[in-house]
Amino acid sequence: MVDMSSNFDSVNEARKGTYWQPFTSNRLLRADPEPRMLTKAEGIYYTSINGTRLLDTLSGLWCTPLGHAHPRIAEAVKTQVETLDFAPSFQMTHPGAISLAERIAEMAPEGMNHVFFANSGSESVDTALKVALGFHRIKGEGNRFRMIGRERGYHGVGFGGMSVGGIVSNRKMFAPCMMPGVDHLRHPYEPEYAAFSHGQPTWGAERAEDLQRLVALHDASTIAAVIVEPVQGSTGVLVPPVGYLERLREICTQNGILLIFDEVITGFGRMGAPFAAQRFGVKPDIITFAKAVTNGVVPMGGVIVTDEIYNTFMTGPESAIEFCHGYTYSGHPLAAAVGHVVLDIMESEDIFARVRALEPVLEEEVHGLKDLPCVSDIRNIGLTAAVDMKPIEGKPGARWSAVFEEGLRQGLLLRCTGDTVSFGPPFVASEQELRGMIASFRKVLEAVG
Ligand SMILES: Cc1ncc(COP(=O)(O)O)c(C=O)c1O
Repeated sequence: MVDMSSNFDSVNEARKGTYWQPFTSNRLLRADPEPRMLTKAEGIYYTSINGTRLLDTLSGLWCTPLGHAHPRIAEAVKTQVETLDFAPSFQMTHPGAISLAERIAEMAPEGMNHVFFANSGSESVDTALKVALGFHRIKGEGNRFRMIGRERGYHGVGFGGMSVGGIVSNRKMFAPCMMPGVDHLRHPYEPEYAAFSHGQPTWGAERAEDLQRLVALHDASTIAAVIVEPVQGSTGVLVPPVGYLERLREICTQNGILLIFDEVITGFGRMGAPFAAQRFGVKPDIITFAKAVTNGVVPMGGVIVTDEIYNTFMTGPESAIEFCHGYTYSGHPLAAAVGHVVLDIMESEDIFARVRALEPVLEEEVHGLKDLPCVSDIRNIGLTAAVDMKPIEGKPGARWSAVFEEGLRQGLLLRCTGDTVSFGPPFVASEQELRGMIASFRKVLEAVG
């Protein structure tokens, strides 16, 4: 346990850079670590080392929707460690993972009854891509090797996820090692036609026809899968236009292409339904999940597949390993135990209904920022929203650092990427807290805008 009363001077030590931090401007952080040094979390607030309380506007990194230090989760962790702290999942099994898989399958769209566990979103995505390749190969269609991602998509940082992802800054350094045979759809977000949409934009469904173009270019017989986030989260909450996902589904079905929904952010309630698939009424063949399934307390991810996909793998000699893939910590007992208690809480507190009730509150508040001169677009769906700021002249994407730092001064831990701020507040926030969060954000924009 980290002893906060010890002599370890974390602020000064952070200046050394021994801890090389992920997706971080390490030199900026090292220059001024104090306001960014988190030492405690409770409910919907973090506390930094200087005692400032920070409202958790993105539920950690979209992963702690039930808030922090939940007593039922803490109890489950303790009990599980004392009972079964690790179990190999290669050729052995344990009740916690089996029953959690069953509960997740029950929440998934009909006919998606099989769950493969991983430990993160990135691992879940790479697992899903391998499942798609394996499925076609077993069926004798090994020529289906292409993967179609989407511009501005984020699917984690594994070589597979990076390749199907569409965020330039995540790709350019590693360009020579992209997975072969990957192509990208255009994304459906065009502010010229859809700025300030409430919920799903009515413009943009025609962008799904881009998949027809790629099918015509490559031939369907070479394409294994299309992977999209139903709502593009990391790139700033790009909401699917009305009819868009439905059309992607149609084209995939017509051409024998698997449709993967990457629900690492949208899974487990963010859209006011178990999965975005149900919110939008579109059933994919594979769903990836992570983050909220364990409320971010213990890492866990996974892939849900249809009966057809699972049964296709369950062929060949009985003693054969059907899918030569998996992780030491797949279905970890501690993650499974936390997953169970998270689902218990979601059920007993009717969390999805709560999200649906809070959605119009966030929508009303966030769109209320439209009058600010620095704001160029506002989007929302479920319990998520994003605000685009007009770029500083000659410096596109440079808004984030001043906004982020002012946020810390105003008691907000903001998620700023480039000129966009994304919100994914905890489901347990009250209406008042959501209104207060946006009121404080208004002050941030007034100060730096
Ligand atoms: C849609 C999506 N897929 C995959 C990932 C990667 O997850 P992780 O960081 O757990 O590897 C993320 C992370 O934000 C995500 O939003």
